[in-house]
Amino acid sequence: MASVEIKPGIHWIGVNDRTTDLFEGIWPISKEGVSYNSYLIDDEKKAVIDLAKAFKTDNFFRQIERVTDLASIDYLVVNHMEPDHTGVIHTFRQINPRVVILATPKAKKMLESFYQLTADIREAADGETLSLGKHTLRFHHIPFVHWPETMATFDETARVLFSCDAFGSYGALKGALFDDECTDFDFYMKEAVRYYVNIVAKFSGPVLKAIEKLAPLPIEVIAPSHGLVFRKNPGVIVDLYRKLAGYATGPGDKAVTLVYGSMYGNTEMMMNAVAQGISREGVPVEIFDAARTHSSYILTSLWTKAGVMIGAPTYEGSLFPPLEQALRMAVLKQVKNRTAAMFGSYGWSKGALAQIKKITEPAGWKMSAELEFPGGPTTDLLARGEDFGAEFARVIRAL
Ligand code: FEO
Repeated sequence: MASVEIKPGIHWIGVNDRTTDLFEGIWPISKEGVSYNSYLIDDEKKAVIDLAKAFKTDNFFRQIERVTDLASIDYLVVNHMEPDHTGVIHTFRQINPRVVILATPKAKKMLESFYQLTADIREAADGETLSLGKHTLRFHHIPFVHWPETMATFDETARVLFSCDAFGSYGALKGALFDDECTDFDFYMKEAVRYYVNIVAKFSGPVLKAIEKLAPLPIEVIAPSHGLVFRKNPGVIVDLYRKLAGYATGPGDKAVTLVYGSMYGNTEMMMNAVAQGISREGVPVEIFDAARTHSSYILTSLWTKAGVMIGAPTYEGSLFPPLEQALRMAVLKQVKNRTAAMFGSYGWSKGALAQIKKITEPAGWKMSAELEFPGGPTTDLLARGEDFGAEFARVIRAL
C-alpha cells in the first residue's frame, strides 16, 4: 500500500506483513497477516512515530521516501520498544545519524540493551510536549500497554492519538486504511479480539487505566500501530478494548467453550452428546479440538465465556497433552474464575481430572461436575452425556 495522508501533514507510512507465520514467534497470522503502522508528521520539524519490523526495512524506507527524504527526519518517537515497531531503527540511525529519538526512560534503557543505541536519545516525560511547528505532540505514558516502557503520543493540533499497540488488531490491511473505508470491518474487530487476548489481556488492569487516562483528550482519530485507523468512530475500538479488559475480573458471557481432545473417537463421541445437551438449553457453545486448533483461537473463547466444558481422555495416567497445553496457556494468560466441567474416556486408570484441577484451581476455576468412563461410551451413557451437557448449560445460565 502507498502512503496515505490521514490529516493534513500526517502520513501513514506503514507496511503490511503477510510473510510472518507466527506473531511474537507464537501466534498464528499466516492467514490473517498484520500491519506495522508508522506515521510521519511533515512540519517545520519532521517526526516519525514508531517504525516497523526489521525484515521490512526496504519497504518501510520506501514509504518514507514517498513523502520526504529519510535524512531530513528530525525526530523519531518510539512509543513502544518491542521489535515489531523498532526493528529498522539501527538502519534508520545509520542513514540519518542526526535524528533525535524520544522515548520513555524505560524505553531508553531497552534501546541500549536491544540495539546498543545510547546517543541522542531524549527522555520523554509523562505530559511533556514537543513542538514541530504547526503540530504539537504530547506524550502520555501508558505502562504495560503492552510493555512497561510504553507511551502514547497525542497530536494536539490535529487531534490524532498515536496509540501504538493499544486499540490495535491482527490483520494486514486490505487496501483500506480507515474504518469508514473498510469493507471487511467485522474481520478486523474479530482479529482485534484475538490480538487483545493473545497479546494484551494479561495487562487488562493497565489497559483500563490507560483508557481512563486518555479519556479527557479531544481525540478525533485513533491511529494504532496494527490494523485500521479509526476516524469515523474511534469510540468503537475503545469500547471493545474496555469490554475485553472487563473480562479479566468479570464473570464472562453466559456461554460455553467446549474444548476437547480424542485419541480414538470415544471422547469425541461423548463430546457430540454433551454439545447436544448444551445446545438443547439454548446456551451458545463454541467447540475446539485442542490437538488441531492453536491456543490463540481457543483463548478468545475462554477469555469471553463463563463456562468451560473440557473433554479430556486420560493419557498415560494424566491429561491428554494438547489439553494440558491449552489449559496452561489459559492460566498463563490470566483466564480466571471460570466454571468448568469435564468428561472423558480412560483405558485402565483415571488421571485427567486430577491434572485439570491441578492446572486450573490456582486460577480460581471451579469444577462443577465430571463424567469419566472406561473405553467407549454405551448408548445409555451417551444419553447421560447429553443430560450432563444440559445440566451444565443450566448452571452457566444461572450464574
Ligand atoms: Fe506491536 Fe507490543 O508490539
